[in-house]
Amino acid sequence: MQLKFQVKGMDFSRAGQAATKIKKALQLAGMDPATIRKAIIIAYEAEMNIVIHAYHGTLTANITPHKVEIIAEDEGPGIPDIPLAMQEGYSTAPPHIREMGFGAGMGLPNIKKSADELDIQSEVNKGTKLWAAVFNN
Ligand SMILES: Nc1ncnc2c1ncn2[C@@H]1O[C@H](COP(=O)(O)OP(=O)(O)OP(=O)(O)O)[C@@H](O)[C@H]1O
Ligand SMILES: [Mg+2]
Repeated sequence: MQLKFQVKGMDFSRAGQAATKIKKALQLAGMDPATIRKAIIIAYEAEMNIVIHAYHGTLTANITPHKVEIIAEDEGPGIPDIPLAMQEGYSTAPPHIREMGFGAGMGLPNIKKSADELDIQSEVNKGTKLWAAVFNN
């Protein structure tokens, strides 16, 4: 099963909705709760990164009995230094975003902890593609 959602930059009224829909689909599919928890951390953090850091993009979930793939693709500024962005506490979020409670610099580190496989490709001034897989036990 594939679910695909459009995600708009700076649209905080709908932020997190795609991840919530993916969570419901995983619950209906009877996936292991631990798998759901990991996949949803990835989906939510990747969705929020599009909302906060990019212009627009898509969040896709490929669901099979053995594995959940989460793919977040955006058009945006890109990530110039991916190893730096992966560090806990590193964030370029401006003050008005931090006031909303985002920008702790924990999204990508938490994605890394939750994913069994992770690949991030990015091109500056073009966009970012994140691919993550969680295996269902
Ligand atoms: N899709 C993206 N496009 C452009 N830059 C990104 C994207 N995702 C992450 N980044 C960059 O990587 C940094 C670290 O991302 P991360 O998700 O770990 O933290 P954050 O989004 O700043 O804060 P938090 O996720 O804790 O709210 C961001 O501050 C931003 O500079
Ligand atoms: Mg983030």
